[in-house]
Amino acid sequence: MRALRGERPAQTPVWFMRQAGRSLPEYRALRSGGSMLDACLDPALASEITMQPVRRHKVDAAVFFSDIIVPLALLGIDVQIAPGRGPVFTEPVRTAAQIAEIIRIDPSLVRERGGAVAEAVTRTTVMLAEESEARGEPLPLIGFAGAPFTLAAYLVEGGPSKDHMVARSLIHTEPHAWADLTMWLAEVTGQFLALQVEAGASVAQLFDSWAGALAPDDYREAVLPASAAALRPVRAFEVPIIHFGVGTGEILADMASIGVDGLGVDYRVPLDQAAARVGRGVTLQGNFDPALLFAPAEVQRAAAQRILTEGLAARAHVFNLGHGVPMDADPADLTALVETVHAWRAP
Ligand code: CP3
Repeated sequence: MRALRGERPAQTPVWFMRQAGRSLPEYRALRSGGSMLDACLDPALASEITMQPVRRHKVDAAVFFSDIIVPLALLGIDVQIAPGRGPVFTEPVRTAAQIAEIIRIDPSLVRERGGAVAEAVTRTTVMLAEESEARGEPLPLIGFAGAPFTLAAYLVEGGPSKDHMVARSLIHTEPHAWADLTMWLAEVTGQFLALQVEAGASVAQLFDSWAGALAPDDYREAVLPASAAALRPVRAFEVPIIHFGVGTGEILADMASIGVDGLGVDYRVPLDQAAARVGRGVTLQGNFDPALLFAPAEVQRAAAQRILTEGLAARAHVFNLGHGVPMDADPADLTALVETVHAWRAP
């Protein structure tokens, strides 16, 4: 929390995107059976899964176990998470008429129907308080949501896409419908974030994973206003906000411009260069290449130390991966990475 507010604690804090999940045998044991969405909407299961990596790796924060499509499922939209693939919608929403129809759904239903999510968050904060007492330091819970572009990218394609061609072309073929869709998704995301923060999450991370697929002008004009709108409902709670995307080297300054405390940087841009692009108004988060988790231990340690040194160019640094933990990563490597980060001191 201090690092996100711009301070430099003696130990650089560390957590991992996708720290909860398939890299952990204890997760696979708990998840055997039910669907991913069912797990997200089961408060006992979701809170326990959230705690697993905190206990095992001794990371400095929990990230709530959920998914970016949970709020859309709560609205009654027919979506599943296909194992090994990602979110899949029964009916893609592509035409102006389909967009006009979906945006008639009232986004405030996310909060009305999100009781299980709120309960899972509250349970997690109780479990974190116990763990935090044992460790003698606070353990924040990071809540999150998908940004309007990344959600729209799945919704219009109907599933995962390599080039996001449908979304990128809709911006130009149906600019008004596109604006309506992304502003509606901003409300959905805002509701989902507010729900988690109200229930006890102490940080909100906005995942715009696929924003890097866009030309910078399109990002600024057709996407960024909706991302800013999505954050409005959490502003009142004054929790730190983190903004993250992949392949965003050209738009880092834009992503930082909407009033965020932390900016996630993927592994393609060294943190000192990212700091030069965004200035000292924001804390950088990142950016260990997940592929390095398959390298020898000494290579991993040296890379982590290089990243910590590059992070000194930012006003403050939260260590993380440049994207999520790969499912076949060895959990022992993640635990070792936490130890390396915690042992490091600024020269
Ligand atoms: O530990 C954490 O980071 C918290 C959990 C988390 C999940 N999804 C759980 C999950 C978070 C933060 C997300 C966000 C998410 N979901 C994003 C943004 C982050 C990113 O990776 O860019 C995106 C794009 C999604 C959509 C999504 N959900 C994808 C692409 C996949 C992977 C599909 C696959 O099977 O490879 C999912 C499924 C998913 N979300 C899993 C988990 C643990 C795996 C499902 C399972 O265990 O069966």
